[in-house]
Amino acid sequence: MRFLITAGPTREPIDPVRFLSNRSSGRMGYALAEAALGAGHEAVLISGPADLPAPDGARFIAVETARQMFDAVASHITGCQIAIFAAAVADYRPVAVAEQKIKKTGARLTLELERTEDILGSVRPKFGFSGFLVGFAAESENLVANAQEKLVRKQCDLVIANDISQPGIGFDSLENAVTLCLPGGRTRVLPRQPKTDLARAIIEEILHPAPQ
Ligand code: CTP
Repeated sequence: MRFLITAGPTREPIDPVRFLSNRSSGRMGYALAEAALGAGHEAVLISGPADLPAPDGARFIAVETARQMFDAVASHITGCQIAIFAAAVADYRPVAVAEQKIKKTGARLTLELERTEDILGSVRPKFGFSGFLVGFAAESENLVANAQEKLVRKQCDLVIANDISQPGIGFDSLENAVTLCLPGGRTRVLPRQPKTDLARAIIEEILHPAPQ
């Protein structure tokens, strides 16, 4: 089978030297690509800027912005049976990118932002993807309820919910603990462990779902 996996943060330019981004390390997405490859499958890894080596054997596509990630997903999703959206895509970008470095002037500066493309939300309606679709949900409250709602709204087969209120796991960490949210309100907790182990458990759950 061929997996398409997005990973890492995106960078949304403000001017030639500045950008908006987030703390995502890319580790979860890279670990998922490695686990898929390790299980004998193909992986297309579409990654925002991350300080990690491209996994051996992956088709690696480096992007910077949400728009570039959207375009890369649009052109590579055909032929993939499983798509996992682990990237921390910026939800907003500056409306205008200054051509020259912005000089400091007054005491305040206002940046106007606009929504980026919703990549996960486009996969079914715009790209016509009919394979197994996996999204992530970073939640600080009502973890399972919000993830279940996302599962239905984005037409996913699995949403991996991350409790970002817990210290030492998740964003920019080596470990994570997640709740797998499946159709029909079913859930499965994967307790705190290295992201590499978690990735193998997630790939296993996708390929060979645990009996209900
Ligand atoms: N995602 C995406 N494109 C975006 C934003 C998010 O593909 N522009 C994907 C992420 O890779 C992740 C999922 O959407 O798999 C969840 O992102 P999140 O920001 O948690 O959820 P939203 O649906 O944007 O909802 P909210 O901001 O209300 O939490």
